[in-house]
Amino acid sequence: MCENYTINYYENVLDIKQIIEQTNLQCMDEALNICDLSGIERKYQLWQSLLPRITPYYAVKCNDDPLVVKTLANLGVGFDCASKNEIKQVLSMAVDPERIIFANPCKPVSHLEYAQQQGITTGTVDNEFEIYKLFKHYPSSNLVVRFRSEAKAAQCPLGDKFGSEDVSTLMLLAKSLDLNVTGTSFHVGSGCSDFPAYERAIKTAKNIFKFGELLGYDMDLLDIGGGFSGDNDDNFKEIATIVDQAVQKHFPEESIKIISEPGRFFVSAAYTLVCKIHAKREVRNKDGKLDTIMYYLNDGVYGSFNCILYDHQVVTAQHYLDDDTDLPMFKTLIWGPTCDALDKISEELYLPNLNRGDLLGFPNMGAYTVPVASPFNGFLQPKTLYFQCRAI
Ligand SMILES: Cc1ncc(COP(=O)(O)O)c(C=O)c1O
Repeated sequence: MCENYTINYYENVLDIKQIIEQTNLQCMDEALNICDLSGIERKYQLWQSLLPRITPYYAVKCNDDPLVVKTLANLGVGFDCASKNEIKQVLSMAVDPERIIFANPCKPVSHLEYAQQQGITTGTVDNEFEIYKLFKHYPSSNLVVRFRSEAKAAQCPLGDKFGSEDVSTLMLLAKSLDLNVTGTSFHVGSGCSDFPAYERAIKTAKNIFKFGELLGYDMDLLDIGGGFSGDNDDNFKEIATIVDQAVQKHFPEESIKIISEPGRFFVSAAYTLVCKIHAKREVRNKDGKLDTIMYYLNDGVYGSFNCILYDHQVVTAQHYLDDDTDLPMFKTLIWGPTCDALDKISEELYLPNLNRGDLLGFPNMGAYTVPVASPFNGFLQPKTLYFQCRAI
């Protein structure tokens, strides 16, 4: 599946400006993703060094690029799949079904049947209708009951949609139907900025384990979901300390398997999106004085920058002018290429006066960008150039 992709190698540091100079981007109509596969490997090393007891199951939804998924599969991580196609993709990379959790609490029957055929044994559930569905279509599966435990602040809260507020009733129902509950899960919200939320949720999980054991279940799986920062390692380190301490306190037994479903943690910082300015306008005030320079790029909110709408991401732009010292800076507004005025990338920027054909780079563009982008208005999604570090 990845045979047709080319990986370029670098020595120690990925130099985006150098890549741009060598790639002749000015001649390309589409924007370009520069994907640093070694950045993903470094994140894995960071995870292993701080949370060795917790096995990451990468949330494929975050970025399903084949080389990204393959890189993670080669590292030995597990996968959180939400659909039949995600399962199919991961299995096609020779990943053992045991390394997959079907972590969508509301699964279409055909997807559930596919999971069963493929030997995916474990999935999350957070409502009684899903329990009846499992009873009918996959009664031998292992249920992981997902409870609601939200952070006070997150980029994308998930609690209104998923997570039961009454897992004991769900577990009693599962018991009455002779279904097997093996664990519990939560998701504090994607892009969590209330780090103690993990401690609160892990404490709640402990009580759910106790209740499960009272019902006679062999509870052996704790799934702490996602929510970890991808572009700020200091934040991740803080979360990891909280998680590690909470796990040691509430789940000291080594026999309990602990997994997590990080998405943006692995991929956010691995991507830099390079866009070309293909049009420019100047906005002047009544006195004819220049107020704002507007640039129109070859990617926008219907493409990779959908993360601004859906993921509430605030993007930053960098230019690649040779000598940028002492250049006057101008209030700048950046638009995407489509004919929709919603297609606005950023308006809180100050940049030097750039020209048509100049490039802008946007770091941290690996999470919830690639799989969501559409070709609206006929503008194509960016191509991706892959890089790997020889030194790693
Ligand atoms: C069930 C589930 N697991 C994991 C994730 C990944 O979350 P994150 O990218 O914040 O780590 C999501 C994101 O929406 C999710 O819905």
